[in-house]
Amino acid sequence: MSCSANHLRGPEGDPALNAIEGVVGAANLLTAPEDMARYLVDARGRYRGAAQCVVRPANTAEVAATVAICARAGIAIVPQGGNTGMCGGATPGSQGRSIVISLERMRGIREVDPANSTMTVDAGCPLAAVQEAASAIGKLFPLSLGSEGTCQIGGNIATNAGGTAVLRYGPMRDLVMGIEAVLPDGRIWNGLRGLRKDNTGYDLKQLLIGSEGTLGIVTGAVLKLFSQPAVSAVALVALPDVRAALSLLERIRRDFGERVTTFEIMSDSEYQLVLALRTELRSPLAGQAPWYAFIELTDAIETLDLQTALAEILGEVMEAGGITDATLAESGAQAENIWHIRHSVTEANLKAGAAVSHDTSVPVSRVPEFVAGVEDGIRTRFPDAKSYFVGHIGDGNIHAIAIFPREKFSDPLRFAELAGEVNALVDEVTVSLGGSVSAEHGIGRSNRARLQRHKDPVELEFMRQIKRVFDPAGLMNPGVLL
Ligand code: FAD
Ligand code: MLT
Ligand code: ZN
Repeated sequence: MSCSANHLRGPEGDPALNAIEGVVGAANLLTAPEDMARYLVDARGRYRGAAQCVVRPANTAEVAATVAICARAGIAIVPQGGNTGMCGGATPGSQGRSIVISLERMRGIREVDPANSTMTVDAGCPLAAVQEAASAIGKLFPLSLGSEGTCQIGGNIATNAGGTAVLRYGPMRDLVMGIEAVLPDGRIWNGLRGLRKDNTGYDLKQLLIGSEGTLGIVTGAVLKLFSQPAVSAVALVALPDVRAALSLLERIRRDFGERVTTFEIMSDSEYQLVLALRTELRSPLAGQAPWYAFIELTDAIETLDLQTALAEILGEVMEAGGITDATLAESGAQAENIWHIRHSVTEANLKAGAAVSHDTSVPVSRVPEFVAGVEDGIRTRFPDAKSYFVGHIGDGNIHAIAIFPREKFSDPLRFAELAGEVNALVDEVTVSLGGSVSAEHGIGRSNRARLQRHKDPVELEFMRQIKRVFDPAGLMNPGVLL
């Protein structure tokens, strides 16, 4: 049995923690520092916290009973999914007064309804497991992220995750039809409806989506499934500038419409960083270019020759000087290599130095101005840094990353100050273009001040009131979002 200084089990121990132990069993209430360690630091090692304990319930009833005990005892709760979030929302604060509730044992597929094109799952189900279960019945669950092997459906819902297929299928908000959640007083709300139409008043489900664990704990969800693509074409294209990427996107969409599933861009600085990460990451293009686009078209009609049609259009655009080179994947392995390059950016940035990353969205038409404004600002105001860009241009969502030499910033406080200055520069450009300071990663702990600065005050006040309605005692993920 593991014990920590602040939780003595038995009659003399903390009564609330003893009661929780009665609900989940001793093996699922972790208090020893070595057992809790991995839950107290995020996937990138950016956020560290402390907690009284980590609780690992097996089902919704155990989550509800645990939350009810915490509500009575006034204990704050940090819900945790796969712990891959980018903004510190799943990491408890440093005081060690809260408890972490991890959904990792709740990973079941509850029901599959092929005729309704839905699947009902436990919130702790990893995204990749949902994708596989959909594929097993000839369907598609389209959310796709670099972290899909680890992140969970509950975390995807709580962050309204985006990723590389939003262009066609929308973010998580568009992919969830029903939700089951434990509310901050311990009540279970069963909203597991698989209805495409339901006009019965306010949509609580949509309030919980993107609420980052501040309104309740998502324990289950009804997910929308789609037809599995039968054919696809994947291309990597070299471009002279960002405007050329926008023109190409427009051209491809004109011809292929909704079949354009993914259209992402990457600056050459980022591309070279990724290629330097590991030898198996090889560029399928012959030379370098200022920018690259990662494109995927898909369709459910088996006889459609997307590959040839895309090759023809790319040939035409190349002749007109809109692109400088292109390669189409001829096999699954070649397509995988292209996506491997795209999905390795987080790891490459982490390794490259002291990185300050952003998750901006602007109207798609204004992405070139955003990139130029940030690049220029970083060059002139932060000469020590180099700028990198990658992202979902079809959604107007570009990640701008300023990377400083690590050895110059061994003092974390000095680095935090500098990161704030870089954020302010990027936000200034973002706001001037009518954009948002968080497109898909959320607010968490790290972006709270930026939310206060840039969100409309009326909207913010309504958000605070909504929080009070759900969680008057402020025990659900305090310090996150608001
Ligand atoms: P966690 O990190 O555990 O939690 C995130 C937030 O949700 C926290 O506030 C937490 O309290 C809350 N939460 C978690 N589970 C629940 C629950 N069941 N009920 C209520 N609240 C809950 N994100 C994108 O949007 N697009 C990308 O392309 C993308 N790529 C990534 C690539 C890599 C390599 C990595 C490491 C991350 C990436 N992310 C991306 C960020 C991250 O994977 C997503 O935000 C993801 O949705 C988080 O899911 P999670 O289960 O890990 O949640
Ligand atoms: C991505 O688009 O690759 C993700 O959002 C991850 C990141 O920004 O590092
Ligand atoms: Zn992204």
